[in-house]
Amino acid sequence: MKDQELIALAAEARLNAYAPYSHYLVGAALLAASGKVYTGVNVENSSYGLAICAERTAAVKAVSEGEREFVAIAVVTENGGTPCGACRQVLNEFGPDMRVLIADVDGNCQAYRLAELLPASFGPAQLPKK
Ligand code: THU
Repeated sequence: MKDQELIALAAEARLNAYAPYSHYLVGAALLAASGKVYTGVNVENSSYGLAICAERTAAVKAVSEGEREFVAIAVVTENGGTPCGACRQVLNEFGPDMRVLIADVDGNCQAYRLAELLPASFGPAQLPKK
């Protein structure tokens, strides 16, 4: 899958964002090792602290469909915002070296590796095997 295709899927998903409080619409499209793409949007709540980010929506959709390895994620916002710390940590569990494509609505795009965005990360390897 080409980067631009993944970004286009994230941009399309973004239109489903439920963000009546922040008005900051976020769309994500996550490419898993199976080749399948899982989209996600931010879903806010009148109890503000219950909002879930677009990236984590996509991640939990993928894992609940059986995915365990993430290859790339595209995130589209109005202004090219990068994933929050909580989302970086959740993505790290399944794709510590995954590509992270950040785009704005005008199509400006920047590519990172998750390890760049979450250096010295804590992950499964830090926990003892039973
Ligand atoms: N948001 C995301 O969806 N992803 C991020 O990585 C940062 C923030 C959402 C949460 C909230 O609905 C809105 O953007 C403003 O913070």
